[in-house]
Amino acid sequence: MRVLVLFVIMLILHMGLVSIIIIRSGIDQNADKNFKKVTDFTTFSATMIKKNKRRLSLSPMASAGPVLTAARANFTQEISFQSKDKDISLAKTLLHISAEAEAFLALNREMDAHSFQNERNGGKESSDGQDSSNVESMLMAGKTMDEWLLELDAISKEVEVELVSKEIGCHLIQVLEAVNKVLFETRGFKRSPVVDSKCSYLHSVLSSGCGSAILLSIIYIEVCRRLNVNIVGSRVGEDFLIWPETGNPEELFKVNSGHSLFGIVNGRCVEDPRSKAYDVNSNSLPGLDIATNRDIIGIYLANLIRLHWKRASRLNHGLMLTSPLRPVNDDGSSVRLLRPQDLRLAIMASEKLLILQPHNWALRRDHGMMLYFSREYGESVQELSICMAFAPEEEAEILEPFVEKLHLLRLESSWKYSGPKERIFLRLRIEVIEIESSLG
Ligand SMILES: *[C@@H]1O[C@H](CO)[C@@H](O)[C@H](O)[C@H]1NC(C)=O
Repeated sequence: MRVLVLFVIMLILHMGLVSIIIIRSGIDQNADKNFKKVTDFTTFSATMIKKNKRRLSLSPMASAGPVLTAARANFTQEISFQSKDKDISLAKTLLHISAEAEAFLALNREMDAHSFQNERNGGKESSDGQDSSNVESMLMAGKTMDEWLLELDAISKEVEVELVSKEIGCHLIQVLEAVNKVLFETRGFKRSPVVDSKCSYLHSVLSSGCGSAILLSIIYIEVCRRLNVNIVGSRVGEDFLIWPETGNPEELFKVNSGHSLFGIVNGRCVEDPRSKAYDVNSNSLPGLDIATNRDIIGIYLANLIRLHWKRASRLNHGLMLTSPLRPVNDDGSSVRLLRPQDLRLAIMASEKLLILQPHNWALRRDHGMMLYFSREYGESVQELSICMAFAPEEEAEILEPFVEKLHLLRLESSWKYSGPKERIFLRLRIEVIEIESSLG
């Protein structure tokens, strides 16, 4: 609670509405009032974060490309809660996610090239280099977003050709067999055992043919949707399984030359006795919870966060996002060994997942921890404080000492960089520390 109160004080200081009276009245042990403060605080922070969102997501760059911002805005618009879940396009949403990541990588390359150029010119600014292209015309693995959507159309056309040329009727099973043939034989799509970033963005999977399990399922859903076949999916253990809506699920499990249709569609996980997917059969299938489009995007983004975090922390084998919460293990050295580009891509994916699941406290904790690893202490304190308001009490208790430590780290860094204008805030911050220690 103390941290929350302090955090509100810090925000007020930042806004220049300085009043020690507020600080004094903030230290109130009355439970009802405190509860009200938490709720006020969360709505207040939520609006602050909304205001800051754009800036936060672009914080490592001085003037980020307009493409980056546009891609995020298009993503947010696509999944906005104004649209019905069934109207959300998985393909478009995923391509917006691709576009943001590609724009970020392009910008990084540009900035590298720019500073290289500057070194050669002896520090003189070169005039070109600023990319003014827009998100619609940006190339991702050689194609624009619209061209990648056309690629999905082209795949479904190939399936139609397959059906017509073989004079196959429109029986569901035959359509699926044709989809399997085009996707897994003609086009040669493969599930990648090693998940790397080439297999983890829709455009790169369409381009390379190798993809993570969730992405191949999404491509399957999108191709079938174009053929008016509705594919549904469900999370089963660690896996995400898909199948067509059918009144006759037995036919999906009929084994033909070693594989069932269900097995071909979903890959190896279905044939692995260690996975929960192995236990799914025609009796249990109708009982599974069907994922919404938002759920599927959420699963995809969660995988993306995991992938980039893993890559960011590769040199730090076994480092978990929550490791610093156990003070014994944290000597601060972990932060130095993280790859900044992958860490940023993980944070970007996490920001998008939080737009989908704003009340998921564990996700917000992880987001706050990533911001800590990227040394954005102010933003980290903000996210972790909100998380504490939502989290179960025992989790909040684990976070509290860490958030207090972060406050100090943040004060330390603001001290280092303060200019004359900031001095007055600095003095007030010192008073906050004094109040904090008198509380403790
Ligand atoms: C992105 O959003 C803008 C503004 O709403 C819209 O004009 C543009 O067509 C969208 N781009 C894509 C690729 O959806």
